[in-house]
Amino acid sequence: MAILVYKIIHLTGIALTLMALGGAMVYSISGGAKADLNWRKGVAISHGVGLFLVLLGGFGMLARMGIHWPWPGYIMVKFGLWIVFGGLLTLAYKKASSALWIVTIVLFAAAAYLALLKPF
Ligand code: HEM
Repeated sequence: MAILVYKIIHLTGIALTLMALGGAMVYSISGGAKADLNWRKGVAISHGVGLFLVLLGGFGMLARMGIHWPWPGYIMVKFGLWIVFGGLLTLAYKKASSALWIVTIVLFAAAAYLALLKPF
């Protein structure tokens, strides 16, 4: 597959992950309890599929770019961010706040900065 196809997969995964996190946070900040959310399965699947697409697209691009282990520093940190995004859904239900909302978008900005500027 062409690198741009992997990039579209990567970006689609990010969008899906952020939709799931945003939806869960809006619900939770509005006072909703996870157990009462009728569509929590849809949110969980969106989050999981989104993260999978981020990984598939990310590693697809790395292969096409000829980058193998040991990964450059910016990829190591992006992988760490991917794990953090994996934990955010639980936090979105349990500890949602405007602070978590801002932290989430700052983490996204950090991942974009690392990918595009490759500072290390
Ligand atoms: C396992 C984790 C990840 C890997 C291996 C990975 C890998 C990559 C690679 C190889 C690129 C292309 C860089 C280039 O064009 O030179 C990229 C771009 C990008 N990544 Fe990731 N990434 C990961 C996680 C994430 C996460 C968690 C986010 C955001 C939440 C993210 C956001 C982006 C963005 C915004 C771009 C720029 C796309 C563009 O050029 O338009 N990545 N990533």
